[in-house]
Amino acid sequence: MVKIAPSILSLNPLTMLDGIRQAEEGGADLFHVDVIDGVFAPNISFGPSLVRALYKETTVPMDVHMMITNPMRYLETFCGAGAKMISVHLETLDKWSCAHYVRMAKELGFEAGVAIKPYTKIPAWLREFYGDLSYIVPMSVEPGFSGQSFLSDTLGKIQALNDDRRLGKYNFLIEADGGVNSSNVKLLMSRGVDVLVTGSAVFDAPNIKEAIRELKKLAEHQA
Ligand code: DX5
Ligand code: ZN
Repeated sequence: MVKIAPSILSLNPLTMLDGIRQAEEGGADLFHVDVIDGVFAPNISFGPSLVRALYKETTVPMDVHMMITNPMRYLETFCGAGAKMISVHLETLDKWSCAHYVRMAKELGFEAGVAIKPYTKIPAWLREFYGDLSYIVPMSVEPGFSGQSFLSDTLGKIQALNDDRRLGKYNFLIEADGGVNSSNVKLLMSRGVDVLVTGSAVFDAPNIKEAIRELKKLAEHQA
């Protein structure tokens, strides 16, 4: 079953709760929370206080995408604030810090993901962690903003991850993030995607509930 993860970066911060309620009614499976520090990526967004506040408002699990240069420093804080899933960027990791990361995830009890910028190649060492990771996020836009166009170059990486997963019998999920909309959902599903992050395609739609239901229907029809 596909999971739809609306990205709250697309919402007006002053009326965010309204969008969140509509997304819940539409059947959001996760809320994708983009944490951006203005250094790793060119925008500044949310911190742990928002995650903590949302945790009190919704039972939908939060998937926190850390687009920050030193994610290790904040894992405990975001996890304590209520993040169930946390992804950190491959570009901030090496083999040793990745080992530390998956250990921290086990200790703190969150699902560990690794996000990858569109033009970053996956290094051989990452495969050693495929058994420990809950999900991998091959990004299809440059990190920073909602509303960018889907980069189809990412499809090859998604396919390669799906092949590696099948061959190695791994359980990690593949999460698509960036420019996901009704025109590419079927393609993404056919390449093995399990989680669809979607910001502008649902939150800028005239009817948020309908937009989520429609995406899910399209995705499930393909799967
Ligand atoms: C981009 C973020 C995405 C973004 C998705 O840096 O990681 O999660 O908010 O928004 P759309 O679906 O509009 O590309
Ligand atoms: Zn994201």
